Amino acid sequence: MTEASFLPYDAATTDAADRLAEAARAIEALPRAKPSLLPALIEAQHVLGWLPRPAVERVAAWVRVPVSEVYATATAYSELRLERPDPLAWHICTGVACDLAGAEALLDSAPERARRIDCQFLCALAPVAVDPQERLHGRVTVDGLRDRIAATTTDAATEAHA
Ligand code: FES
Repeated sequence: MTEASFLPYDAATTDAADRLAEAARAIEALPRAKPSLLPALIEAQHVLGWLPRPAVERVAAWVRVPVSEVYATATAYSELRLERPDPLAWHICTGVACDLAGAEALLDSAPERARRIDCQFLCALAPVAVDPQERLHGRVTVDGLRDRIAATTTDAATEAHA
């Protein structure tokens, strides 16, 4: 397993056309009207893991809106991803409770792997981190985060060479 295979869609993979076709079927299962714009984006991201340009164009064509309007909608929702996510990234909550509990120290401790996210609604467990498999971790310490990142990076490297 390579790092890229953590994600459903990678344009460089041999099954990229199949993934896009699957996303197109999901998009086109929705009513062909503007109110389907957001559901179509959600469906496409569900299938592909993010929203590459071909998926955005497919949504625009299906719901009959300009591509620019699709991008405007996609950028308005933090849950929608227009960039291919790092399959090994950890996300650190930077909401108020997590910020007060040391989120910046966590981000500073792993600048190559840690990304910011909004409140995950587990404020009582601050600071909160989300691992690459989207599992939530509470009361994360700098040392704990470093150990977990090292473990997930080692696991991925081992799988890549298996
Ligand atoms: S502020 Fe981090 S979970 Fe709410």
